[in-house]
Amino acid sequence: MSLESEIVQQVQRRRTFAIISHPDAGKTTITEKVLLFGGAIQMAGTVKARKSKKYATSDWMEIEKQRGISVTSSVMKFSYNDYEINLLDTPGHQDFSEDTYRVLTAVDSALMLIDGAKGVEAQTKKLLEVCRMRNTPVMTFMNKFDRECNNPFELLDEVENVLKIQCCPQTWPIGMGRDFKGIYDIRSNSVRIFHAGEDQRKLEPVALKGLDDPLLDEIVTPFHANQLREDMELLEGAGTPFTKEGYLDGSITPVFFGSALRNFGVFEFLHNFLEYSPSPRPRPAVERVVKPDESKLTGFIFKIQANMDSSHRDRIAFMRICSGKFTRGMKLYHCRLQRMIKLNSTVTFMAKEREMLDEGFAGDILGLYDPGLFKIGDSFSQGEELNFTGIPNFSPENFMKVRLADPLKGKQLEKGLVQLTEEGATQVFKAVASNAHILGVVGVLQFEVIKFRLLHEYNVEGVFESVPYTCARWYHSDNEQVLKKFEERYIAQIAHDVKDKKIFLCNSTWDLDYAKKKFEGMEFYQNSDHIPV
Ligand code: G4P
Repeated sequence: MSLESEIVQQVQRRRTFAIISHPDAGKTTITEKVLLFGGAIQMAGTVKARKSKKYATSDWMEIEKQRGISVTSSVMKFSYNDYEINLLDTPGHQDFSEDTYRVLTAVDSALMLIDGAKGVEAQTKKLLEVCRMRNTPVMTFMNKFDRECNNPFELLDEVENVLKIQCCPQTWPIGMGRDFKGIYDIRSNSVRIFHAGEDQRKLEPVALKGLDDPLLDEIVTPFHANQLREDMELLEGAGTPFTKEGYLDGSITPVFFGSALRNFGVFEFLHNFLEYSPSPRPRPAVERVVKPDESKLTGFIFKIQANMDSSHRDRIAFMRICSGKFTRGMKLYHCRLQRMIKLNSTVTFMAKEREMLDEGFAGDILGLYDPGLFKIGDSFSQGEELNFTGIPNFSPENFMKVRLADPLKGKQLEKGLVQLTEEGATQVFKAVASNAHILGVVGVLQFEVIKFRLLHEYNVEGVFESVPYTCARWYHSDNEQVLKKFEERYIAQIAHDVKDKKIFLCNSTWDLDYAKKKFEGMEFYQNSDHIPV
């Protein structure tokens, strides 16, 4: 087979996605069930065991100890029905950070997991906004229907109103909680009966001739059968018809109901996912759009993880392949440094363990051992000048001023902060008026991490002081007069980011709204690429 046709074939087989959810919605549980289907793990409880250790404490030493564990779960690669699936973890809980957002720039689609008893929650909302920046296709799983949940129509309404995405149910719950009878697969017109305690993978769904089929009354109850008929009538009248185009452009989300814990409804999701979700998509670069089936290898770094192995204190840079074929030992052109580098020790992340990767195609994630050469957003090619776009910084939500305990260590502090910024561990802003270093992070745990790393890796003791900011916005105006007036008015709240772009540090959303009203013609952005969300 020629290289070209091998690449085309391999790209078609690949699916790279992430699960977005609020903590406790069941992400770990559903990940485990998906991996069980893929045969990547043999036993329920495997992923769970990793997780409970991981969150035992928020102490950094403890986190460091756990890094070896969390990295294997940061990318899980497995095969299922001739597909090669890469599932990228979006860290939640205490380690929610900018990484969580950035992972979403490296996937081709996402699964939004919602706790059916809680509906749309804060973190889901934020993560969906990031998906929207790139029109990432999103499927939705309404979880925990083995418990009392909100009315399914209310859940759909909430998603449509709060998240502004049209819902298109593919399955429908029959009852819930103690009364949970199963789910109706709308497309295949079949019912999967819920038997608590039985493994869904062994149970075949029951095919119906239509919703009028009396078999339905027999297999659920006449009451539930009638309820389902009514629900379907309502849905037909008010629902959005499914179109693959709508899903692919991010305006429609196919919705599935079930219980991750009971492995119920997960099969329906997985099969629809493989049928509809996109294989690796073309990627925009400053110079041109790169297609996944091009023969030359290209990729970009979306995450850098430090200290994963405490005996080596190594960093691993995660590179998403955008085109071509990777083979072990090949050389790549580092576009920012403008030189070739050899990729010797590259790992991929099988769901089972870290393994050496011999080949890879668009959609796959490579782990590159990083001696300090890589930054988030770095692009690679086989010689072409390329700069992939769409890997921005995101507005931090927590801020601290950092100053030195020992004023003679200014250089080390600067160096430490620059490197930690390159890794994406924090963002550093330099206040225009005072020259103070202001750190901005998405999740507060990062402050602890930074303090610890400054001390242990750069030998500087940082004194962290609170500042009144709660959000930050990059800004722009075509009207120079307005821009000048704005900057004069807010001089004390303006800072430079590491790329020298100016950012407005806001004391509150009220502060921001006021500035928007007062300075018409100013545009404010939540990410450094100025992509609307
Ligand atoms: P997360 O990764 O999104 O944070 O959530 P995780 O999977 O850890 O699930 C959070 C809790 O919700 C867990 O309970 C889990 O068992 C439960 N859960 C997940 N999916 C379902 C479901 O479909 N139905 C029901 N009834 N519960 C579900 P926990 O008590 O916090 O942990 P554990 O003691 O069960 O391990």
